[in-house]
Amino acid sequence: SVKRLSDYQPPGFTIDSTDLTFELDATHTVVTAVLELRRLDPQLTELSLDGQQLQLLSLHYNDKLLAANEFDCTSQQLRLKVTEDTFRLTIRTQINPLANTALEGLYYANGSFCSQCEAEGFRRITYYLDRPDVLSVFRTTIIADTAHYPYLLSNGNKVEQRKLDNGQTLVCWQDPFPKPSYLFALVAGDFDLLRGDYQTRSGRMVALDFFVEKGQGGKAAFALDALKRSMRWDEQRFGLEYDLDTYMVVAVDFFNMGAMENKGLNVFNSKYVLVSEDTATDTDFFNVESIIGHEYFHNWTGNRVTCRDWFQLSLKEGLTVFRDQEFSRDMGSATVNRIHAVQVIRTAQFAEDASPMAHPIRPQQVMEMNNFYTVTVYDKGAEVIRMLHTLLGEAGFQAGMRLYFERHDGQAVTCDDFVQAMQDANHYDLSAFRLWYQQSGTPELTMQRHYEPQQQRLTLRLNQRTAATADQPDKAALVLPVRYQLLDESGNKSGLFVMQEHNETLVFDGVSAQALPVMLEDFSAPVRLKHDYSEQELLRIAMEASNGFARWDALQSCWMLWLDQAMHQNNDFRLPDAFFELYQQLLKLPLDDKALTAELLKVPEYHVFAENFQQIPVDAILSAIHSFRQQISQRLAPELKACYQQHSVVAVEYNEMNVGIRALKNRCLDYLALHGQPAETLLLQQYNSASNMTDKLAVLSACLHSAHPAFFGLMQQFATEWQHDVLVLDKWFSLHAAQPSAQVFEQITLLCQHPKFSWQNPNRVRAVFHAFAMQNPGQFHRMDGRGYQLLTDTLLKLDPINPQVSARLVTPLLSWQRFDLERQALMKAALHRLSAQPGISDDLYEKVSKALANE
Ligand code: ARG
Ligand code: ZN
Repeated sequence: SVKRLSDYQPPGFTIDSTDLTFELDATHTVVTAVLELRRLDPQLTELSLDGQQLQLLSLHYNDKLLAANEFDCTSQQLRLKVTEDTFRLTIRTQINPLANTALEGLYYANGSFCSQCEAEGFRRITYYLDRPDVLSVFRTTIIADTAHYPYLLSNGNKVEQRKLDNGQTLVCWQDPFPKPSYLFALVAGDFDLLRGDYQTRSGRMVALDFFVEKGQGGKAAFALDALKRSMRWDEQRFGLEYDLDTYMVVAVDFFNMGAMENKGLNVFNSKYVLVSEDTATDTDFFNVESIIGHEYFHNWTGNRVTCRDWFQLSLKEGLTVFRDQEFSRDMGSATVNRIHAVQVIRTAQFAEDASPMAHPIRPQQVMEMNNFYTVTVYDKGAEVIRMLHTLLGEAGFQAGMRLYFERHDGQAVTCDDFVQAMQDANHYDLSAFRLWYQQSGTPELTMQRHYEPQQQRLTLRLNQRTAATADQPDKAALVLPVRYQLLDESGNKSGLFVMQEHNETLVFDGVSAQALPVMLEDFSAPVRLKHDYSEQELLRIAMEASNGFARWDALQSCWMLWLDQAMHQNNDFRLPDAFFELYQQLLKLPLDDKALTAELLKVPEYHVFAENFQQIPVDAILSAIHSFRQQISQRLAPELKACYQQHSVVAVEYNEMNVGIRALKNRCLDYLALHGQPAETLLLQQYNSASNMTDKLAVLSACLHSAHPAFFGLMQQFATEWQHDVLVLDKWFSLHAAQPSAQVFEQITLLCQHPKFSWQNPNRVRAVFHAFAMQNPGQFHRMDGRGYQLLTDTLLKLDPINPQVSARLVTPLLSWQRFDLERQALMKAALHRLSAQPGISDDLYEKVSKALANE
């Protein structure tokens, strides 16, 4: 059933305190919930609690045991008559954590108990008002076998711990901050514990405790440090301090997403905690720091101020992604960070806008909330916050944040409340800006230039237009902050133009005929920019602009021009000399920012090209990419070799400089591998002498990209070396699944039989199938339909096990309308197979039915 934002009703009851007791057992856990309820709406005579997959053992109203005919218990709800304004319910339920393969609610995996309650998982633990605007003070008692579960954790402060006489331990936790049920967490198990501490700016000592799988304690040190950096950064940039005496992080291998910000007790996917130079790449290190930051920043933007309802998810996620991006920019190369964030928008987010799942950053209707933890809500949501920051400036934005916390600390609020605080703190009218929360789709901003030599006047005509999306036919003009820089001999001018209407003009006087306007600098608004630059002009920006992002962006536009030309010239197309000169220059004299240099030296990936087409020419894109890479590797062989040699010795430690040098060196290697046999020595040498995972993996992926015969031997060697480490093995699974030949099908069958593969573990499943569907476009989109069939078989098998994971993996099939007719037919057939499956989950059904809606 569909829920709508417009149907929102405030809760009729609230729960002032929640006292939970867990008697843990893998298959028969008993939960006793003592809830102090209060009626808010005196008209109401019936209370309805949410519940799913619960076995009700008993129910007391105050001290009275209710008989079965005194309440109504369905598979989704528990309803009873209420006569008093305040009363107590004592609810005993039994649950089966081991059978919980959906990993939502309380589950048992890998020998420990773990919970995930966002968005609506708490109702699988007990009957409750499972909605974010019901805030309650929680007390949690956990009773479990001492030998198996020496650590019993929940939110807040530990207030009691004692051994019982039957070999069990009882631990009691009290969380002083009222919170909604989605922030509840419970973990029980045996772990390595890595401890640190942190003194806040005002002098509070905070114990930092990391719980990780036995034997992995050493791999949590970087995450612990990253947490300290996050805490310091949030004090310095936002003036926000931590508010409890302990901050716990648990890393588990079975987890549906990246991590979860439960109050005082974050639960993380182990791949975002456990890193060491020999097992993790620089990208892994980056992700750990950024996600540790993200979850920490949620303590204020998410926990202290939370969402009124789930339609407001971007209130906390967009804002917290903005905060984690700012943090990452301060920790590493700011330009490359921005480039990567923009890539996410231009590929995944624009693709979502163009898909049947299109929605605004504040969705208006939802069937399964888990389907709306999307790049739109998160990453476009962060771009909307970034635009506010651009419009108001850092000081104005921070004034808005202070007012937001002054008004709403301890509350569950809406996106409007946030914008209102920004507006009131700055006396800046944001009424038109709010449309960003309602309107879905990707605006297209067109720019046309007119130069009048007599007046030395350059006029820019700007037009914005947003095409209809699957969810919304009519679109209005948005507020677009357009940052620009005018490159001119007489000196560069820069500024911010705030576009409000469909058509506007921007006039520059006293500029030369050669003046070149660089628009939308740093991607100041999440739009598609259509400009009228020539190749020459773009190359000039790529060489001359002072802003690194602008240089990269101009090159991206060049690549689109060249793809277009390659497609029309049947691959007789040769990249222009001016381009080779630019690359030669970059290889001979890399910029100070080596990571940026490596980005500039990269031919865009398939998805970057694909997103520029309404009908995606899969094969043409793949063959053009191949040809571009060949041309670069042949024409620039000496420069690539020299640059590789010059940067081949790097200290292993993860820091901005070393990361940049490795990126540059491995970019060269990626081209050099295309030389075939003659490159073998180089590849083997780097593989065998590498002291870190970045350099090892770079060899494997270079071999993969160039179809180098050394690939299989090295993969075998790698497997023997790393069979004990599942997170490293995931990389190996992904490389196999991305292998661009028909062999990949037999290979995937073998991977699924691997002793470390498990259909129950989302990391393993994603390592194989996300890689196949997203990093192997040639095989996934095969004209014989074998790729679609493999994904469909997988989803049918996976959906009953874990609907959240199956609904995420189906994404590439939803966009069937973007392909040629033959592929369309095959993809639709796959979707029909899914929709015909009896018992398909709501998660998968919502997406598949939307995809088939206007067939
Ligand atoms: N709040 C978490 C985070 O962004 C993610 C939770 C995702 N939940 C879900 N059901 N998909 O940090
Ligand atoms: Zn988040």
